[in-house]
This record gives sequence, C-alpha cells and structure tokens, in this order.
Amino acid sequence: MRSQRVIAIDGPSASGKSSTADAVARALGLIHLDSGALYRGLTRIALDFGETGAGLSTLDPRRLIAEAERRGLLLRDDQGSVHAWLDGRPAEDRIRTAEVTSGVSAVSAIPALRDWVNAQLRATAAAGAGAVVDGRDIGTVVFPDAALKVFLVASPAARARRRLGQRGEAIDPARLADETARLAARDDADSQRAVAPLTMAADALPLDGTDLTFQEQVAWIVKRGRSLGLGR
Ligand code: CDP
Repeated sequence: MRSQRVIAIDGPSASGKSSTADAVARALGLIHLDSGALYRGLTRIALDFGETGAGLSTLDPRRLIAEAERRGLLLRDDQGSVHAWLDGRPAEDRIRTAEVTSGVSAVSAIPALRDWVNAQLRATAAAGAGAVVDGRDIGTVVFPDAALKVFLVASPAARARRRLGQRGEAIDPARLADETARLAARDDADSQRAVAPLTMAADALPLDGTDLTFQEQVAWIVKRGRSLGLGR
C-alpha cells in the first residue's frame, strides 16, 4: 500500500538528486531529506577519528554512532532549507570535501550505520507533513511504500560536467575524464555492495535528465506528486 507521504528520488552519483529534491520539496511545501548528507557526516566523523583507507570499512559502527550522537549529527531545517548539522553548526563545508567523497562508499556499506541513518530518515519524515527524500535505496529499502518513486539518471558526461561546475573547476577534457572515472568508481561500489545496493525499485519511474533543463526535471516530478495529492 502507498501509505507514506514520501517522494523517493534515487539514482547514481551527481545525477542531480539533491538539488532536484530540494526544488521539488519547496514547490510542494514538503521537507527535503538528503540521506547522502548523513552518510557524508558519518564519514567526516570517521576521518576525524584518524581512520583512512581500509580502516573506513572495518571501523566499529557502535563507536561511530555514539560519536555521531555526541556531536549531534542530524538533518536540521534552517529557514526552510534542510542541511546536515554537526557540532551545533551547518556541516556542508566539512562533508563535501574530496576526502569525504572518496571515503563515503566504504562507510555507507556498513549495515549498522545504514540502520542508524534509516531510523533518522523515518523519524524525521514521520514528524512532518511529508518529505522528499533522496539517496540510493530510498524507494527500495527506506520507504518501500513511498507514494512516488523516481529513479533519476543522466549521462556520465553530463554528471561529470555538473560536478566540476559545482566545484567551480574548469571543464576541460582531462578533468572531465578524471571526474567521470571517479563517479563510475563510486557508482560501482554503491551498486555492488551487499546491503541496500543502488538499484531501481520495480515500481519507480525512470527519469533521464541528460537533455532536460533543471526546471523541466523539477516540473516533471512536481506534476506527478500533485496528481497523487502530495503537497500543496
Ligand atoms: O551527491 P552525490 O551524488 O555525490 O552523493 P550523495 O547523495 O551525497 O551520497 C554520498 C554517498 O553516500 C554515496 O556514494 C553512497 O555511498 C552513500 N549513500 C547511500 O549509500 N545510500 C543513500 N541512501 C544515500 C547515499
């Protein structure tokens, strides 16, 4: 039964899930929950412990969760925009570093950490009028009864170009090739892990944003959300 007032947006790295989910949530008057930001926050904490490389895959999840709770890792609504907070302040600058990005797939493969993230997402979504939640396993595992599931993809070149642009880097062939390889490595790791791998839910609607403008992509989801009676 589609009981949850949730729009699930899943897809590979840099497909535009987060910015799209944020705009859809604003249009419909729902909150946006970025599950990747919590995995990034956990990775930040693991790096702050001094863990690197293989250590990130073998860390003690109980110790990491205790530290996440002590340091107050959570998704917090700050004037209509929900972001990860850590140590009582916004954590965006600390969770979007290259070091966090290259470690996050190892950390997110640890089942007990996934259970912790999923519990935060479910509790936050249940508390509000509804939520747009983006990630890799939102429609398959976290909210299998979401009212609407979208699987957002884009070509590797479009995704690499977007990431370089977000970081303000020049878009030349060498950088594009590098970034495309980094995204492919993360997608492989996220798709091949044993628990909650990146995969499209059988009842998700595929959306290829390669040749759509950002506004068209957002409007496509908002229209379907409204037709299901979600949001305003
Ligand atoms: O924004 P970007 O596409 O770079 O990734 P993200 O959404 O911030 O997610 C960062 C990482 O967290 C992913 O590469 C996955 O390893 C993990 N993740 C996950 O395993 N499950 C989710 N629901 C969301 C993110």
